[in-house]
Amino acid sequence: MASKIYSPAQVLLHWLSAAFILWALVMGFSVMLLDVTPGFKATIAGLNVSLSILFIPVFALRTWLRLGHVRRYGHRPGEQVAGVIHNVIYAVTALVLLTGVLMMDRPIQVFDWLTLPQPILDPEWDHRFHTLHAGCNVLLGLLVALHVLAVVKHEAVGKPVLRRMLVTR
Ligand code: HEM
Ligand code: HEM
Repeated sequence: MASKIYSPAQVLLHWLSAAFILWALVMGFSVMLLDVTPGFKATIAGLNVSLSILFIPVFALRTWLRLGHVRRYGHRPGEQVAGVIHNVIYAVTALVLLTGVLMMDRPIQVFDWLTLPQPILDPEWDHRFHTLHAGCNVLLGLLVALHVLAVVKHEAVGKPVLRRMLVTR
């Protein structure tokens, strides 16, 4: 099997995206579910909104690279399923980003550098998109868990997939 499935840029962007998405999922659900102070919640929300906006061009670049350099999945059912799941991860990530922007009930503050206008002023629609954002995040969390379990399973049965996502092979 060809070893260079992903370009170095794709590998780099995979780990950058993985780090950000895991952080945003864990911190987002933590402040939602745990009993934290309003100040801490606002700090994390502000940081995550800023980082999420910066992540949008990173995700766009990553998607563009995948479209231009689609990894060839084999014909075996397992490989086909992996291909579909990877595409679903991209689609759900895009939905999380879109619903995140649309749910904003205040201007979008990117650190102290940039303020974008609130996209939807109707509080009822903001609330609907917040519900969608939470739902898409649950789905993304489940997909990521499945994804990591699949990597562990493949490694455990002697199919080295992790090295595909390393720059040095
Ligand atoms: C991959 C990107 C993202 C991930 C993984 C993510 C994850 C989460 C999670 C897990 C929550 C907690 C559940 C909830 O309250 O709905 C949350 C809440 C939130 N997200 Fe996102 N999000 C992302 C992108 C965005 C974007 C692009 C924005 C807006 C620019 C945004 C704005 C918010 C806001 C305002 C909250 C509610 C915070 C609060 O008031 O407690 N998110 N996000
Ligand atoms: C620490 C956790 C993670 C590990 C160990 C991991 C590992 C891997 C590996 C080994 C591959 C190559 C699979 C193959 O082609 O056979 C891969 C691909 C992929 N991973 Fe992860 N990953 C992790 C986290 C994430 C997260 C958080 C996301 C995003 C939500 C993600 C999204 C993807 C996608 C979409 C692909 C398909 C390749 C592409 O971008 O075109 N991964 N991952």
